[in-house]
Amino acid sequence: MTATLTLPDDLADNECRQFDLPGESHSAFVIRHRGQVYAYRNACPHLGIALNWLPDQFMDPDRCFIQCANHNALFTVDDGHCITGPCAGDTLTPLPVARRDGKLVIDIA
Ligand code: FES
Repeated sequence: MTATLTLPDDLADNECRQFDLPGESHSAFVIRHRGQVYAYRNACPHLGIALNWLPDQFMDPDRCFIQCANHNALFTVDDGHCITGPCAGDTLTPLPVARRDGKLVIDIA
């Protein structure tokens, strides 16, 4: 399914927001880190399940990496690369995100 989603651009640094993907079982999330906004599908490359247990919680306790709550894999925020854990070397699936007129615009292919 192809869709364009629009979310408010009001995230604080290191804050995440989960959102549904139309017609898909997995959700996705946006994260602001060091002034940049990134979006990823909420599917861990280890088992293909959701990364988070709590809504909008995708970061490690130090707020440096995206963390999978299941087996504690850590992913770099800027490119979704897994640096440690059972899926080390794999990556999260990014979604293109742009900022337009005070909104985050995410294209779902
Ligand atoms: S499901 Fe994410 S590390 Fe295992």
